[in-house]
Amino acid sequence: IHNVIFNNSKEGSLEVAREISELIKKKALKNHQCVLGLATGSSPIKVYEELVRMHREEGLSFQNVVTFNLDEYYPMERSNIQSYHYFMHQHLFNHVDIKPENIHIPDGTVSQDDVQVFCREYEKMIKEAGGLDFQLLGIGRTGHIGFNEPGSHYNSATREITLDHITRVDAAPAFKGLENVPRKAITMGIGTIKKAKRVVLLAWGQNKSEIVKETVEGEISSRIPATYLQEHQNVTFVLDKEAAASLT
Ligand code: F6R
Repeated sequence: IHNVIFNNSKEGSLEVAREISELIKKKALKNHQCVLGLATGSSPIKVYEELVRMHREEGLSFQNVVTFNLDEYYPMERSNIQSYHYFMHQHLFNHVDIKPENIHIPDGTVSQDDVQVFCREYEKMIKEAGGLDFQLLGIGRTGHIGFNEPGSHYNSATREITLDHITRVDAAPAFKGLENVPRKAITMGIGTIKKAKRVVLLAWGQNKSEIVKETVEGEISSRIPATYLQEHQNVTFVLDKEAAASLT
């Protein structure tokens, strides 16, 4: 794992948005699609803000971009303002020229009977798109990436998962109370993420410093699923000073 430490989240986010935009443009020159794996939550917001700015002010086009989001709460309506579907449209998709048919987000509305089939189909769509060229990640205090909570298998695929209590506590303010936070989610697996050609994980703030240290310096274990990233050949952790503070 390669760490890059910035003075603040803004500077780190600008650099990550620059990398993504270069990849999109490089692929466009060859008439190739650019397949992006995307995250929600507070960590990537400034990256999306910058991509939207580049679209508006510099003509960055998303015509050749295909996206697969990491996860969605389950069950969850698309129109719910807490849904990751809503989040992605609000922060990125509504403001750029991406083709609607190129947007993929796990569907929080599928029936319980259809979840497994949906997950298998999601994996298949990623594969058929040629795999993820770039995967953007945040990290939860449990060490989850996507919603791969402690106990997740290193080779796991997209599936339904039960959220860790800590994850639900962290989400409680957004849902106006723990009792309103869904107990489950649909998430890409560790195996799905590890197949991405390039992985960039964002972590900002002192809140993340302990889990960042354990992820980067600890031994690889399903206790902290993010440690599986140590086995990836092309992963960078983009940190601010506070998130990097515990690293030795
Ligand atoms: C979101 C996701 C999660 C978050 C993580 C950190 O799509 O997959 O793993 O990245 O929970 O969330 P924030 O960025 O809100 O601290």
